[in-house]
Amino acid sequence: MTLAHLPKVLENERAAYFAPWAETHFKDSLRQAHECWVFYCGAELVGHGVLSAVAHEAELLNLCIAPRVQGRGLGAELLSHLLERARARDCDEVFLEVRDSNLPARRLYRRAGFEEIGRRRGYYPGPAGAEDARVLRREL
Ligand SMILES: CC(C)(COP(=O)(O)OP(=O)(O)OC[C@H]1O[C@@H](n2cnc3c(N)ncnc32)[C@H](O)[C@@H]1OP(=O)(O)O)[C@@H](O)C(=O)NCCC(=O)NCCS
Repeated sequence: MTLAHLPKVLENERAAYFAPWAETHFKDSLRQAHECWVFYCGAELVGHGVLSAVAHEAELLNLCIAPRVQGRGLGAELLSHLLERARARDCDEVFLEVRDSNLPARRLYRRAGFEEIGRRRGYYPGPAGAEDARVLRREL
C-alpha cells in the first residue's frame, strides 16, 4: 500500500466496517513501516490488510475485503499473505481482536488456525451499544 491507494482503500474500508479507520490510521501505519498491503482482482483494488511486527510478535490490525466480493475466498488469501509477511519479519506468533458478532471473520480466523485467548469487554462501539472483542492468537 502507498498513499496513492488511500482513496480506494478508504472507500472499501467505509463500505465494510461499522467503525472504519480514518485516513490518519492508514497514514500512521505507513509511516511506522507496518506491513500494509492492497489486494487486487484484475485491475480493481478489492481489499487491504495491515499488520504490525515488533519483537517477534505480530498483530493483525486490519483485514478488509470489499462487501461486493466477500465470500469468495479472497479474505483467506489476503490473510495467508499477511501471515507469510509476519514469518518473513521473524515473528513467532500473531494476535488479533475480532468483534463478537463478526461471524464471517471469526470463521475465517478459526479456519486459519487462530485460537481464542481472552476477551476485552465493551471494546467495540456497535449499533446496540458496546460489544466485546475476542482476542485470538496463532503460532507461526
Ligand atoms: C472478514 C473478511 C475479511 C472475510 O473476507 P471474505 O473474502 O469474505 O472471506 P472468505 O471468502 O475468504 O471466507 C472466509 C470464511 O468466512 C466465511 N464467510 C464469508 N462470508 C460470510 C458470511 N457473509 N457469513 C458467514 N460466513 C461467511 C466463509 O464461508 C469462509 O469460511 P469457510 O472457509 O469455513 O467456508 C470480510 O468479510 C470483511 O472484510 N469484513 C469486514 C471487515 C472485517 O470485519 N474485517 C475483520 C476484522 S477482525
